[in-house]
Amino acid sequence: MSERSAAEANRRFYAGTAETYDATEDCVVDPRQQARLRGLVEHALPLLPPNIRALDACGGSGNATMLLAEHGARPVTVDVSPDMLALLERKARAVGFEPDTRLAPIEDFLREDETAWDLIMFSSALHHLEDPGAVLELAATRLAPGGILVTVFDPVLADRTLGRLRRVDYALHVALRTPRRLPSILRRRASGGESVGAEAERHALTGLDDEALAARLEAAGLEILGHGRYMDARYAVTRALLRALRTPSGFSLVARRYDATGASEK
Ligand SMILES: C[S@@+](CC[C@H](N)C(=O)[O-])C[C@H]1O[C@@H](n2cnc3c(N)ncnc32)[C@H](O)[C@@H]1O
Repeated sequence: MSERSAAEANRRFYAGTAETYDATEDCVVDPRQQARLRGLVEHALPLLPPNIRALDACGGSGNATMLLAEHGARPVTVDVSPDMLALLERKARAVGFEPDTRLAPIEDFLREDETAWDLIMFSSALHHLEDPGAVLELAATRLAPGGILVTVFDPVLADRTLGRLRRVDYALHVALRTPRRLPSILRRRASGGESVGAEAERHALTGLDDEALAARLEAAGLEILGHGRYMDARYAVTRALLRALRTPSGFSLVARRYDATGASEK
C-alpha cells in the first residue's frame, strides 16, 4: 500500500470512474440493494422530527441523497470527489432541486462543522476510509439528541473463504462491467503495486469488524437500533456460494443518540 491517503486515492479513483458509477455500481443498480437502502431510510425517518438536518457522508453521486430528497429531506452531501458530486448536481437539477454539496474529506468536514445533525448516512462509505471507527465516533458526536446514524453496504471481516469469494466477485465485476480498467489493474499488479481502486476501497477485501464498530458507537453514547448482516454479492454464483456456506458478507447499522429529554422516544 502506498503512502497516499485513502481520501486522495478516492479523489483520483473517481476522477477516472465516476462516469460509469451510476450504471455499474451494485448499491445503485441492484434492486435488492436499493430496497435495503430504502428500508433503512424508511426505518429512520419516522423516528425523526419533520424538516430534519440530514448529512449524506461520502454521498458521491447521491444514492442516499436522491432517496432522502424523494422523502422531502434536503441533505447536505459531502464528498472528496468533485467528479462524483458533479454527477449528483446534474441529476438533482434534472428533477428540480439544487443539492447542497460540499467538497471535503469527511474527516475534516466533521471536525470543523458544528451542525447537530438529525440523520447521518454512510452508504457504501466506511470501507473507503482510512480509519472508519474514528470517523464513526466523530459522527456520533455531531448527532443531535435523538439523532440517527445509518451505515450500509460495508463488508464484514473476511476469513480466507470469504476473502476468496470477494476476489472472484470483484474480478467478475471489473471484467464484465468496467473492462476498460483491466489493463491498468493488470499493469499495476505485474509491477507489484496496488491499483488506485484498491487503495480507495481500502477495506473492501479484508472487511470491517462490525461488532467493534457497533461497540464504539455504544461507547460514544449511541443506542444500536439495528445491526443487520446479509449474504450478498454482485453475481448469482457468488451469492449462491455465500448462502450455501451460510456466510454473511455485508452489514448495516442503525444507531440513535440518547435523548435525555425523551422527546425522540417513539
Ligand atoms: C462507493 S462510493 C459511495 C457513494 C454513495 N454514498 C453511494 O451510496 O453510492 C464511495 C464514495 O465515498 C467517497 N469518499 C471516500 N473517502 C472519502 C473521504 N475521506 N471523505 C469524503 N468522501 C470520501 C468517494 O469519493 C465516493 O464518492
